[in-house]
Amino acid sequence: MEEDVVSVVPEDEGKDKFKKSEHVAFYRRQIQGPNLQHRALLDTMVLTEKGARFELLEPDKQTRLLLSMSPSKRDTVRILIDELRPVKARYRVPDVVTEEPQCEQLRVDRRTNDSVTLTWSSGRHRVRVWHFPFRLEILCENEVLVTFNAKSKLWFETLQDPPSELQDDSLWKETFRQFVDLKANGPSSVGADLRLHGFRHVYGLPEHSDDLQLRDTRGGEPYRLYNLDVFAYDLFSRLGLYGSVPLMVAHKPDRTLGVFWLNASETFVNVQYFPTEQQDDQSPLVRRRKVEPQTDVRWLSESGVIDCTVLLGPNPQQLFGQYAQLTGFQALPPLFALGYHQSRWNYDDEADVKAVDAGFDRHDIPYDVIWLDIEHTDGKRYFTWDPVHFPQPARLQLHLEKKKRKLVVISDPHIKLDPDWSFYCEARDGGHFVKDRDGQIYKGTCWPGESSYLDFSSPATRAWYSSCFSLDKYKGSTSSLFVWNDMNEPSVFNGPEQTMPKDAVHCGGWEHRDLHNLYGFYQHMATVDGLITRSGGSERPFVLSRSFFAGSQRFGAIWTGDNVASWEYLKISVPMLLSLSLAGIAFCGADVGGFFQDPEPELLVRWYQAAALQPFFRGHSAKMMKRREPWLFGEEVTAAIRTAIQQRYCLLPYWYSLFHQAHTCGLPPLRPLWVEFPREQNTFSVDHQYMIGGALLVCPVTEPGVQEVQVLLPGSGEIWYDVDSAEATRGGRTLSLPVTLNTVPVFQRGGSVICRSVGSFSCTADLQLLPLSITVALNCEGGAAGQLYLDDFHSFRYRDTKSFCLRRFDMLSGRLLCRAAGEEGTFDCDLVVQSVTVLGIKSKPSSVTVHVSGVKDSSAVFEHIETCCMLTVSSLNLRVTTDWEMLIS
Ligand code: GLC
Repeated sequence: MEEDVVSVVPEDEGKDKFKKSEHVAFYRRQIQGPNLQHRALLDTMVLTEKGARFELLEPDKQTRLLLSMSPSKRDTVRILIDELRPVKARYRVPDVVTEEPQCEQLRVDRRTNDSVTLTWSSGRHRVRVWHFPFRLEILCENEVLVTFNAKSKLWFETLQDPPSELQDDSLWKETFRQFVDLKANGPSSVGADLRLHGFRHVYGLPEHSDDLQLRDTRGGEPYRLYNLDVFAYDLFSRLGLYGSVPLMVAHKPDRTLGVFWLNASETFVNVQYFPTEQQDDQSPLVRRRKVEPQTDVRWLSESGVIDCTVLLGPNPQQLFGQYAQLTGFQALPPLFALGYHQSRWNYDDEADVKAVDAGFDRHDIPYDVIWLDIEHTDGKRYFTWDPVHFPQPARLQLHLEKKKRKLVVISDPHIKLDPDWSFYCEARDGGHFVKDRDGQIYKGTCWPGESSYLDFSSPATRAWYSSCFSLDKYKGSTSSLFVWNDMNEPSVFNGPEQTMPKDAVHCGGWEHRDLHNLYGFYQHMATVDGLITRSGGSERPFVLSRSFFAGSQRFGAIWTGDNVASWEYLKISVPMLLSLSLAGIAFCGADVGGFFQDPEPELLVRWYQAAALQPFFRGHSAKMMKRREPWLFGEEVTAAIRTAIQQRYCLLPYWYSLFHQAHTCGLPPLRPLWVEFPREQNTFSVDHQYMIGGALLVCPVTEPGVQEVQVLLPGSGEIWYDVDSAEATRGGRTLSLPVTLNTVPVFQRGGSVICRSVGSFSCTADLQLLPLSITVALNCEGGAAGQLYLDDFHSFRYRDTKSFCLRRFDMLSGRLLCRAAGEEGTFDCDLVVQSVTVLGIKSKPSSVTVHVSGVKDSSAVFEHIETCCMLTVSSLNLRVTTDWEMLIS
């Protein structure tokens, strides 16, 4: 145990164990290498039903490449470049793209000696290919949006047969500290640049502990996408963290576009903005020459092919849709997963778990899930239980289940090397482990000591692993047990950069280097499959993963790993979660309170308040930290945390509806302000405030001792209502808001309708019992609209038998309508609307009448508070699944 503690505390060597870009041979080769003058051989162009294909030639090295370009019906353009005649196949990332986009038939629009312009049915977009130097431009009408290879950085190291003498050939061998990487394929890197015309703001490329807007990387490190276990990671760093999504999102007032670089090997991205800040500051004379804004981005990957899809938006909503269509939509979580999760490394034994569980009830704090970390196992053998501390795990789960609560246990990808353990033997005999470069089972150390690593890239291994979650095989598990995949970058304590050597070998003979960033994605996939299969396909799973890749949103939740209990880490969690959300990973959160070190009570409260308004909400802490259950810091702290969590639960109808929207449209619940205000340039760099859906603006307090916060309320034509005081403020200004420890600045946007549950929760299951209240926030025209999504909250019946219901609320001219929103499902329930609050009604109405079809109209009880223009209609008892109408006159 002691050893474990030591191994997570940063050592002196600490951050030196990770590479900087200068340590990476392929990065140096590309950055220091010459610009290569590729030619597009336009007379080789063939138009097919999948788009266009033509050859590229680089005359010096006589490199011949094949470029395929496919525009899709959804306004995306895919550019795929591989060798024309490879000596062997190069890795192409499987399983991430869920649906090959439907391609458009191309036509030649214009041909000159130097270029060919192609168009497709929609007619608005075109692609122009220049012969020499090769460029590929994507145009909308006559405006060039993107130029691929604008700076001639296209780079493609073709595979060669190995030289007879390897020893000193640095292209085939790379050493970092004591680690030697032998490259089975020699140099195999690829790279390209894209110019994004008119853009000065780019985002995405999670995961980095940095601001939301990507920085200009000139003079600093490039963004690195290489999944690594970085304990107590540095702030404001571009080094790789636990997961990677190679999606960049660019935004300007009239367009949002994306660049998706589908490559799972180590990848770097450089960003250059123009005009530079210096040019921006120049004298008016220079400024008058007007340097057109643009962003140049350069992608460099160690292996694989160039597979780059440009997503053309044009608005943020369409962009999210395009990306989700490509890589999959956010899984719809079971409702309990949106509740509060209580975790710690570790809860010691069954009695401890029960005591913590009872503590929540005693203090009237709702929660849904309690978590068990690695110590719950028998010697870090996942799928087992410590016989002394957890002798009756099923009984424990039953105990929780009676209160409609769940248990989550950890299941890591390393498997203790123990020939006396049947699980290990089955994995070994079934060929389920990753091999080393010599073809032996790879061994590395992790929590259990010497371990081997499951090869989740193999479908057979995934199937086997999934089957291990079946209730009869996983002894002591019940259907209320869910799973947490950790250390799946993978983390290898004695490996290079604390991960697996790149020359380890996976199924199909692929080197680990080719698919490193997919490792966690595949474990997440297999675990999710296991839980779905366990339920006979009927129940929605919940699995949290630390590592992830593009598409991981299809599987469940991720969190931002081992953060620190300090104000800076609370603050950075906001841009980190926004960046994940922009890149499709909508169900994300950070350890509440900070994983490492002990938070002061004020920090803990502020962290709960912020995280209660973020998608995945879990308190977690490291083993050597003091206990920090919410009631351990005195009544004031307990009360503040209770309020934050209770308010989260009251807002669950809204959160759940937003997850349904993410699941069907790709829009993340957490949104940077600019997503909702795409033309308001003063929002483009804001990342300490954000929107939850389209209706709520949040400005969490992330500094100590604060008495006032400045809140930017965008949109001069907007009205914002303070959720606490109902006070209205015009948009287009920054508001100074006095705050106490109990204030969480949240504003509802005029024009929106939100449903909340009213009452006290003990867990999410209470949502079915508690009545709803509706808050209608009027805009300047006196209108508002919103939606509510409901189903059974746990099964796939919403999908398989359309057992869901989607309701909409529309307010106009004093009339509020509740009715079906478009396609109606078959779900019905007894949920009732108890009250309606309308914000922004200046004068007291003379009557409020309720009309339900087939029932006699009734007048309702109401109260009007003139000072804050608020009308509350109470004692309603209106079923939310029936149509009704309320007339305020
Ligand atoms: C890693 C995880 C952390 C967990 C610990 C022990 O550090 O990030 O959340 O508690 O391992 O399993």
